[in-house]
Amino acid sequence: MNAPNPNAVAAFEQGMARFWHPVGLASELVDRPLAVELLGRRLALARLGGTVVAFDDLCRHFGAALSIGEIVDDCLRCAYHGWTYDRSGTVVDIPARRGVAIPREAKVACYGAREAYGLVWVCLEPEPAADLPAYPEFAADSFVKTAYRVYEVWDAAATRIVMAALDDTHFPWVHPGLLGDRAHPEPPDHRASVEGDHVVAAYSVEQPANVSLGSPEGATGLVTVTYTNHVYPSTIRLQKEAPGGNFVLFQTMQPLAYNRSRIFLQVARDFDRDPARDETYLVFEDVIQSQDQPVVESQRPWLLPPLSSRLMLYVRPADLPLITYQRWLEGLGIPQV
Ligand code: FES
Ligand SMILES: [Fe+2]
Repeated sequence: MNAPNPNAVAAFEQGMARFWHPVGLASELVDRPLAVELLGRRLALARLGGTVVAFDDLCRHFGAALSIGEIVDDCLRCAYHGWTYDRSGTVVDIPARRGVAIPREAKVACYGAREAYGLVWVCLEPEPAADLPAYPEFAADSFVKTAYRVYEVWDAAATRIVMAALDDTHFPWVHPGLLGDRAHPEPPDHRASVEGDHVVAAYSVEQPANVSLGSPEGATGLVTVTYTNHVYPSTIRLQKEAPGGNFVLFQTMQPLAYNRSRIFLQVARDFDRDPARDETYLVFEDVIQSQDQPVVESQRPWLLPPLSSRLMLYVRPADLPLITYQRWLEGLGIPQV
């Protein structure tokens, strides 16, 4: 519905291809290959000799999906005729033609793949424009981390989902009683700037007492919380500092295509540290995400219209973090519609 023109989609995918994006849980990738999608491409992930690899999911022989093959001696063997690929994507065995040289073209495209923060990340371009998003709480013993929530695929651009997490002026409207109060729709003072390889946006608000603020169960009234959002093209790390402790939401989106994204979400907190309590925090986020989903999926155009077009009427100063994020994206060569 309302598909953008193909050039806009291609430009978006090309701009995003220079960054690392999550493609799956590291724990899912064990002794069998895995089919994943990233920016309109089908990839086969595999662990070969302890290294995570990402290949085009297309055997050079007759085009079977390598992701339905098997791992044999640290190589990936195609399910159809047994052509076998090493970790660089080069064919090292053609069972029907052994004893003669393997054609030079017998290789598949191999992309940068890394394992970090419990996820597998892929960058489709050989020279990434930036390192992985930072997530210092992941390695900090003072924070307990939940397992990841992996949500069903949303029909939305990853950039739109990042913006939904970055935007606070929707709190009273989409999350009344949880993150906002309709009697107080006025925005906080925002500070937003580009810091190194990402955007940082910070502000303090009064929020209804809730578990993410370390409020005791059943607490009522408003609590002052300071948000510091660290924003990347497809990732946001949201730090909430409240009297009850520090709560961090690491939310990163796998852009399957320009209009479909899968959310990986992990909560880290330095209070209420019993892991048996993890589910309480994830259920809170489930509610927030389920409130955001229909709104974000309804947004058109799919990709952000250029700032200069004024197709989106940002209001100042309320929308400052979003303006900063979009201007930064445009500067990175991630064009929108
Ligand atoms: S299609 Fe892969 S070996 Fe023939
Ligand atoms: Fe929201």
